Amino acid sequence: MNILVTGANGQLGNEMRFVSKGSKDNYIFTDVVEVEGQGTTILDITNLDAIRMMVAEKEVKVIVNCAAYTNVDKAETDQDFCELLNAKAPENLAIAMKEVDGLLVHISTDYVFGGDPYNTPCKEDQKGTPTGVYGLTKLHGEQNIQKSGVNYLIFRTAWLYSEFGKNFVKTMINLTATKPQLKVVFDQVGTPTYAYDLAKAIFEIIETRKFAGNTGIYHFSNEGVCSWYDFTKMIAELAGNKDCDIQPCHSDEFPSPVKRPAYSVLDKTKIKDTFGICVPYWTDSLKVCMNNLMKSDGK
Ligand SMILES: NC(=O)c1ccc[n+]([C@@H]2O[C@H](COP(=O)([O-])OP(=O)(O)OC[C@H]3O[C@@H](n4cnc5c(N)ncnc54)[C@H](OP(=O)(O)O)[C@@H]3O)[C@@H](O)[C@H]2O)c1
Repeated sequence: MNILVTGANGQLGNEMRFVSKGSKDNYIFTDVVEVEGQGTTILDITNLDAIRMMVAEKEVKVIVNCAAYTNVDKAETDQDFCELLNAKAPENLAIAMKEVDGLLVHISTDYVFGGDPYNTPCKEDQKGTPTGVYGLTKLHGEQNIQKSGVNYLIFRTAWLYSEFGKNFVKTMINLTATKPQLKVVFDQVGTPTYAYDLAKAIFEIIETRKFAGNTGIYHFSNEGVCSWYDFTKMIAELAGNKDCDIQPCHSDEFPSPVKRPAYSVLDKTKIKDTFGICVPYWTDSLKVCMNNLMKSDGK
């Protein structure tokens, strides 16, 4: 089977490259720009004709959409482009897959909920109101896919990090190594997700064909719960950065263009029950990623 991955230069896209090595399927990695030595085919997912042409030429039966507009703060002043990439482009992919009776695997976010007022982990069918443009456009993307009639799997995830690209883990390794003091919010609670774990879950579901008869929305993050403060404390400890004094603070101490959810833990019962997916605890996965980051040869 020919499987096309979009946004292959990003965090999750690169992890898809890694986990799919040795697959029985043929993976094609695409992104809007080429990175030297990566073997990426150019595909802009805002262009429906380009998607249709590639699907026909490569006889694609599954698309894994790792592309998105992911800058949550910048989205507030860039709403039209964010809507194009997070809502219209997934619709394009859905149309192209529907035309060949294929499967669209799409990634969404805990920010579609805007947080749970009762501090209870969010289930897939829970209703919510996004607090910002990013969450709203990601919700529109989900709705467009559902309306298209395509076979789909939507994985909502949260607080993604990996060895690839820019992310919170890399930023905090650096800041806790160089700053004597750091304040980090403790009133936003969620669960970090190692992009490798999510990529592995997606890969296993495709490789085993367990998606057949099981299309729908699923939640995936690592296990456990923490605040950004706890996350930072663990990053500093694992990095051996003992000299930085890390203190908890409230979100209003950091003026931000967007209000982030106070509690956005995802309930993963459905994905575990349906696919038998094993979900690692967040600190276990953080250790694996940080070990890889500290190794000179990386992944
Ligand atoms: N990061 C998080 O904390 C987080 C949390 C929850 C959910 N998610 C979701 O998880 C998924 C993967 O996130 P990620 O962190 O891996 O994203 P990422 O690292 O930002 O990667 C996204 C990739 O998409 C590419 N792209 C941008 N415009 C494109 C276009 N028109 N056509 C094709 N590709 C395009 C980007 O290229 P450029 O960099 O050149 O623009 C980038 O390589 C996304 O759906 C995101 O919404 C992420």
